[in-house]
Parts: sequence; C-alpha cells; structure tokens
Amino acid sequence: MSEMSEQQIELTETGFPRDFLWGAATAAYQIEGAAREGGRGETIWDRFSHTPGKIERDENGDVACDHYHRWQEDFDLLQRLSLNAYRFSIAWSRILPDGRGKPNPAGLDFYERLVDGLLARGITPFVTLYHWDLPQALEERGGWRNRDTAYFFSDYAQIIARRLSNRVGHWITHNEPHIVVFEGHVLGTMAPGLRDERLIAPVGHHLLLSHGLAVQALRSEAPQSAVGITLHLLHIEPASDREQDTQAAQFADGLYHRWYLDALFRGTYPEDVTARLALPDGLVRPGDMETISAPLDFLGVNYYTRGIIRADRPSRLLPKLVPPRGSGLTAMGWEVYPEGLYQVLLRLRDAYSPTKLYITENGAAYPDTLDERGEVHDAERVSYLRRHFQEARRALAAGVPLAGYFTWSLLDNFEWAHGYRPRFGLVRVEYATQQRIIKESGHFAGRVAATNGGALEE
Ligand code: FCB
Repeated sequence: MSEMSEQQIELTETGFPRDFLWGAATAAYQIEGAAREGGRGETIWDRFSHTPGKIERDENGDVACDHYHRWQEDFDLLQRLSLNAYRFSIAWSRILPDGRGKPNPAGLDFYERLVDGLLARGITPFVTLYHWDLPQALEERGGWRNRDTAYFFSDYAQIIARRLSNRVGHWITHNEPHIVVFEGHVLGTMAPGLRDERLIAPVGHHLLLSHGLAVQALRSEAPQSAVGITLHLLHIEPASDREQDTQAAQFADGLYHRWYLDALFRGTYPEDVTARLALPDGLVRPGDMETISAPLDFLGVNYYTRGIIRADRPSRLLPKLVPPRGSGLTAMGWEVYPEGLYQVLLRLRDAYSPTKLYITENGAAYPDTLDERGEVHDAERVSYLRRHFQEARRALAAGVPLAGYFTWSLLDNFEWAHGYRPRFGLVRVEYATQQRIIKESGHFAGRVAATNGGALEE
C-alpha cells in the first residue's frame, strides 16, 4: 500500500504536490460569538463556561471574535494570506436549537452565506460537523452517554448535507473524539465537565458510532463529496526503555489513538484496551463496528506535541504524562517537537494505509505583544510553523499521501478552559475593539502558501 501511495503523489520542485491545500482552521464556539442570536440554542460550552471556576478568569464565548458579524472581513484576511482552504465548524445548535426536530432556517442561511463567501474568494471549505458544542438539550438527555445522540447527530448531518452538499466537497464528522472523552467526561476540564472513568468506553463508542452513521447520511446526500474524521495524535514515547514504561506508553497509545484508529480502519477495538476498560454489556451492538469502519476518503490529523509516558501505579487507568521541561515550551506548556509530526504521519501510513491525509490542525500559542508600530513580530511561531511545514514535506517525500495543511488558527480565539489567554492566531485579535492585525507568522504562512512551500527556505 505504501508503495502505491509513493507512486501516486507527484511532487513539484518545492516538495509539495501541485494541488496542495494551504489553509487555516477555526471552530464555531471559539470564534463566532453571537451566542444568543439567530435562534441559536444553548450548548454545553455555554453552560460550562458560565459556571464559575471552570474557565480561566471566568471568560466565555458569548462574543469571542464576533465572527458571526465579521466573517466577510475574516474571509478577506484568508484571501490576503493566499490561503486556498478553510476549515470551520458548524454549531449544531444554530441548525437545531434543541439538537433535534425542526431546523432553524436562520442557522442554515448563516452557514450557506459562509460557504458562498469562501467560494466567491476561491477558497475550498472543509466543514466540521462537531467541534465539541453539543446542544444542551441533548446533554440533558444523557449527551454522548446516550446512544440516541448518535442518531440525532446523523439526522443533523443529513440536514446540513442536504442544504450545502452542492457546494461543500469536504466533510469532517468529528474533531478529536478522544479529547471529548477524556477532558469532557473523565477529567472534567472541558464541557460537559463530568469525571467518571466508566464513561470512557460508552462515550468513545457512541462518538464513533455517530461518526459512522453520519458518514452514511453524508454519502446518501452527497455521494460526490469526501468524508473524513479528525483525530488528535500525539507522538507517544516511553520515558525510558524499562519494560514498565514501554508498556505504559503502549497502553496510552491504545487508549488515546488505537481505540479510534483500529475501530475506523479495522472495525475492532484493541484488545489490550478492552481488557482493562470492561465494556458494558450491550454497548457494542451487532453491525456497529461495520458502520464505524466504512472506508473514509481521508483522515484529518491534529498534531501539536509529543507525549512522554511513565509507568504509574498499576491500578491507575489514566496514563501518566511526564510534564515537559526546559525552554522551547509554548504558552500551553507544550513541548515543540516537529519530528513527531513526521513520525505520526509515517506510523499512520505504515499501520493503517489511509487513502489520503490532511493536517487539519497544527500551530502554537505564544504570549505575543504589539510593538510600538502596532505590529506583532512572533518569531517563535514563525519558527514553529516553518519546522512543522518542513516535517510535512519530509513525510511527503517518504510517500505519505498528504494533501493539505491547516494551521491552527486563523484568529486568536477562545481557547476553551484557558479562555482568551493563549493566542494561536496567524492574525491577532484585539478583543476590546475586535481589530484584526496580521502577525509576522501570518505573512510567513501566506508566503509559504503563495509559493506552495517555496518560501520555506527563505
Ligand atoms: C485542539 C482543538 C482546537 C484548539 C487547539 C489548540 O485540540 O481541536 O479547538 O483548541 O487544540
């Protein structure tokens, strides 16, 4: 398989295929604001962020980047940066305020305008259906703990596809299901803020089932379009070559990665994980794994950092990550480890042979400052991006079928539990005035896009 993909990709002299997509990514709750406009229903992130103590400085996404009103200006920025693709997510509760039932025309109109605005600027839309903002009404019926939510999700997918599939050619069902499982339901650090290890299997399975059902809905409404899912992948390494650490790293990889990858690409859950999770009776029903493993048109990869795992007390289920130390950490405390991107891509190629891959997120937060001329010279972000783009090029040379690269993020935005402190944007947002300022990294990413990677060596 890997040999086949090596032959399939034709690289230009810059090391990237001719039709490579250079994009930026965002997510609805992180940028839109207008939380109570256009008939939008409440989501688990509205509820969570309005609960005192959950978010740094008790911030919330009520206004965020006000993208709901400023999307034209934001799309002009994409164009100025020569980006030819844009990944954004749809807020389920704008379409179905209670998560199910009758669609809200204002919500459908809004996303149709977004898509048309992109197409008019020659930008290819990648639409994510679920970037973590479950309608609160569904949470009250059990959220992702309830199998019914998977069916409501596929109904929602169908409604969107019916309206947009004549202009949207790329669909992403879910963003990072394992973060939803662990941060949302085990650690309680993200919405809905539950803390229960027994939810790992049910929530993980229902998310994957909802993906599989949505793939069916999308394929029936939009047979021509490409459908995929986005996973968050760390480059996992054991803290030492001691047997206990190697085993702990292996298990972490199972819990965070292989649970999803094996289900999607092989139709099974990894045995080393199911042995420890004890799946509830009746959770996986006949036909579920076939639904989940329907062939994908592409896999989306979100890569940020490496995870070093050390063995902990054997009774503990959750892997112990060694906190990264030293210089070179981002404002999230994440280690900058570009080689990990190459390793992750090669591992996917060798173990799962995906037909096509997109990097659907990669980027870094740094404490940017405005200089006296009102400019942002974010040399660390430029270096982060350059080094990761180079690793992507190296993976392409090794035959990885990589077709595009979306930087996280177009704009500084609401970074979940961290509020507005971490700034990930290619474009700075002055939250008091909503002014946008293209950072040096934005200009750099723009030159790389305009030259299809040629500017990487500048
Ligand atoms: C990813 C999320 C994205 C953003 C980045 C920094 O895990 O998908 O929304 O928060 O991290």
